[in-house]
Amino acid sequence: QDIPSLKDVYQGKFLIGAAVKTPHLTGPVSELLGKHFNSITAEYQMKWSNVEPTEGKYSWADSDRLVAYAKANGMMVRGHTFVWHQGVPGWLFNHPVTGAPLTNSPADQQILLNRMKTHITTVMQRYGDDIPVWDIVNEAIDTKQADGYRHSRWYEILGPDYIAKAFEYAHAAVPTAKLYYNDYETEFTFKAVPVYNMLKDLIARGVPVSGIGHQMHLTMFNPTPKQVDDALNLFATLGIDQAITELDVGVSSRDLALPTVSDDLLVQQGYYYKRLYEVFSAHADDLVSVTTWGIYDAQTWLRGWPMKRAEAPRFFDDDLQAKPAYWGVVDPTRLP
Ligand code: G3I
Repeated sequence: QDIPSLKDVYQGKFLIGAAVKTPHLTGPVSELLGKHFNSITAEYQMKWSNVEPTEGKYSWADSDRLVAYAKANGMMVRGHTFVWHQGVPGWLFNHPVTGAPLTNSPADQQILLNRMKTHITTVMQRYGDDIPVWDIVNEAIDTKQADGYRHSRWYEILGPDYIAKAFEYAHAAVPTAKLYYNDYETEFTFKAVPVYNMLKDLIARGVPVSGIGHQMHLTMFNPTPKQVDDALNLFATLGIDQAITELDVGVSSRDLALPTVSDDLLVQQGYYYKRLYEVFSAHADDLVSVTTWGIYDAQTWLRGWPMKRAEAPRFFDDDLQAKPAYWGVVDPTRLP
């Protein structure tokens, strides 16, 4: 459609990003991608389980293809992600000889640290400046735990210092890369404060953290735009970069006990998107990119996620047509 390009509208403020699956690099979806976006994130292709399915045996095809596509189309790539409790291969937390689950013994800790260093170094040095930004650690905070950390296998084997180690290994691998901590629900105080405190401590200790990635898998109207503004103001005091990394604005007929996602719900979504991007624009000086976790509605991971308000989180509908959500961020005078 001959409609304004999202990336042109936000030129000079922040990059407009999208998560992509490999099939989106060709065909009609790639036309939308090329027209509206200047940053891409691999939705799953660069996860550890995809890149190193067997220890020491790397599978580069998907990530090479995504990086080549981005270079050919003048797009930035956000690398995503290394140290996470999901998307990691089955062998990672088992002993290489016995196959037994790794313990927190010094010998087992060294095995896991060597694996972390090798994987991060191998992947980052393959791409160098072609991937200038990485989500090094993802979702390490769990506010349900007394000590605030997610008690993942990383934590059980290495203790919380695995977080600093990941950043140090990444910085040693490619010193010019921008290294982010990435998490969800940072738009709410209950999560923002522990994440903020952890980052403040890491930065004070000289750990090379360059940015905070706010995933922002939102449900319409929650949080309020003011809560988003407050969160961005809080993290701005750390003096590091910020990015919105996985934006969804979920709107669901299930959630509202409606038979379908009605037109007026989609218009309301348009107004909510409008106000979110007004807040993002007010933070353009430290907000590097705003990435939606997909391009069009049928792509969304949310539809497989029963608890989430699933359908229709995107700018473009299942037929790749612009929705009120798109007009809300491009030209709100077009909203009814
Ligand atoms: O493409 C393969 C297919 O060939 C294969 O047959 C199938 C069965 O194994 O798997 C398919 O890959 C799946 C991939 O999504 C593509 O749909 C993976 O199994 C599945 O694990 C992967 O899930 C992704 C998930 O992260 C785990 O990596 C979701 O797409 C992705 O939306 C989700 O994204 C996460 C962020 O990384 C971190 N923040 C939360 C966000 C939502 O969970």
